[in-house]
Amino acid sequence: MPEANVYQAYGIYLLHRQHRLIRRLMRIYEPTVHGHKLWRASFLLMDYLQSHPPQKGSKVMEIGCGWGSASVFCARRFGADVTGVDVDRDIFPFMDVIAALNSVQIRPHRIRYEKLTARCLGDQDLIIGSDVCFWDNLIQPVRNLIARALRGGTKRIVIADPGRPTFYELADLCAKRWDVTLKEWYAVEPSRTTGEVLEIRG
Ligand SMILES: C[S@@+](CC[C@H](N)C(=O)[O-])C[C@H]1O[C@@H](n2cnc3c(N)ncnc32)[C@H](O)[C@@H]1O
Repeated sequence: MPEANVYQAYGIYLLHRQHRLIRRLMRIYEPTVHGHKLWRASFLLMDYLQSHPPQKGSKVMEIGCGWGSASVFCARRFGADVTGVDVDRDIFPFMDVIAALNSVQIRPHRIRYEKLTARCLGDQDLIIGSDVCFWDNLIQPVRNLIARALRGGTKRIVIADPGRPTFYELADLCAKRWDVTLKEWYAVEPSRTTGEVLEIRG
């Protein structure tokens, strides 16, 4: 690695929280909705997408993107045109740094799940998320976002999770309505991580 606190996973460079740039950003920006670090479910998402890739150049939207590691992976690996969506404006500087480190650009979009329209969602070939349904009050908004995306014309939605009860409730709600697969999954980079991946198809 070129310097301390830089690491690699799934072909992209990432930064530990102790990295000098992250520490500097932390002094100015304070993510408040759990976007203060990169969550391990993002590696499940990368591993899953590596096995079930989108077409090259697809339009991808990452919801609840946080530091945007899965967005950067899609841009780098699949040449995807990626939008990173998050309610917390303070996460975007972290996403920008990770994107720049990997020589890609991610379009930032500050908005809450509830406000994303069917047209804006339906414009995407693929919608992804990792660890985005972690509170009870997020289950219905994420479920409704999925409904709007499918209505708008999105073909695939893929959500990875460590296996939180709220995520299983979301998976149950989706299974009642759409064609879904829920798979146990593991990632091997940067170290072994296990969890679940939910895929909903239009
Ligand atoms: C647990 S973090 C996961 C971040 C990233 N996906 C990852 O795996 O590293 C959840 C993210 O969802 C965002 N978030 C929470 N509620 C949201 C909402 N209603 N609309 C949009 N983003 C939201 C938070 O700001 C945070 O960045």
